[in-house]
Amino acid sequence: MIVNTNASLLPYNTFGIAAKADYIIEYDSVADLQKVLQAEYVKSNRILPLGSGSNLLFLNDFKGVVLHSVIRTIATIKEDEDSVYLEVGSGVVWDDFVAYCVENELGGVENLSNIPGETGASAVQNIGAYGVEVKDVIEQVNTVEARSTIERTFSNSECEYDYRESIFKKGLKAKYIVTSVVFKLAKKPTFKLNYSKLEEEVLKNGAVNLQTVRNTIIAIRQSKLPDTTNLGNAGSFFMNPVVSKQHFHELEVHYPQIPHYFVSETEEKVPAGWLIEQCGWKGKNIANAGVHDKQALVLVNRGGATGAEIVFLAEQIQLSVKDKFGIGLHPEVNYIE
Ligand code: EPU
Repeated sequence: MIVNTNASLLPYNTFGIAAKADYIIEYDSVADLQKVLQAEYVKSNRILPLGSGSNLLFLNDFKGVVLHSVIRTIATIKEDEDSVYLEVGSGVVWDDFVAYCVENELGGVENLSNIPGETGASAVQNIGAYGVEVKDVIEQVNTVEARSTIERTFSNSECEYDYRESIFKKGLKAKYIVTSVVFKLAKKPTFKLNYSKLEEEVLKNGAVNLQTVRNTIIAIRQSKLPDTTNLGNAGSFFMNPVVSKQHFHELEVHYPQIPHYFVSETEEKVPAGWLIEQCGWKGKNIANAGVHDKQALVLVNRGGATGAEIVFLAEQIQLSVKDKFGIGLHPEVNYIE
């Protein structure tokens, strides 16, 4: 266990916000975490479990205890004719796990290549890209209850997964701390390439296999999304909004090119990046906060931005999208007070 007091959160948030936390504690096993949680100063403080901080925004210094997993084991726990079940420590860097699966010819997570963050957070956030969400391959999530320190396993259905949503973000927020995730991976991969022009792009790189899909997705992401080491950001800042079919048809009359995805007989999803670009925000800045010039859904720290500056920009964008399209945008990034 490593405990740092009055510590900088700069290495713990990809937005590059220079906030501080009263305590930052790293633990490397379930037993270590249980010991941490039994300490009086931890019990009497607010806790914030985090991964690499790639999906959050610190609005202020954090008054409380930040808990970071460095449990970094990958183990095969079961195997049958079609699948391999891997238990992956919450501190394993997400993309290292994806690379491991691709190298070992296990299918299921290749479309989620190059997403920043760690494995524990992936199961909290239900990360998704290119037609796949991590919930599609999660078998179970192993946790420790913060208050009692008792271990508890959540089955996939108990996690109540939805688009960028889970029970760990709602009712059980900060109540259970993820220690490892069990994934069910396919020995004979079935590829999901129907997102936009993905299949076409993959075929340009060779035959369809796990490695070409991974390479293609890495190239697409690198062409659109800024590298957090050069330009602070947290990926998509807002969720893609879902609108009624009726609202969508009204918009389509004015904007025949509007991109959209089928959700149900009554609803359509519209890309927030497109809405933001139509409002003229792409590449714009307010103070030290900006809108990325290649993907308008990504807000960036132009250097020395505070959480408040990013939020101010986000609010201006929300107002103009509401005004022009009548659509409310909701942050995907978690605001931490
Ligand atoms: N678009 C624009 N202008 C922009 C950005 C996008 O017109 O500035 C249009 C694109 O042309 C395209 C559509 O919007 O027609 C969708 O764009 P893109 O494929 O880039 O995906 P997205 O909907 O903006 C979502 C996820 C991403 C994920 C990609 C690929 C959310 C909130 N975001 O973005 O996830 O990588 O799809 O599957 O669902 C993240 O969550 O941090 C993230 C990066």
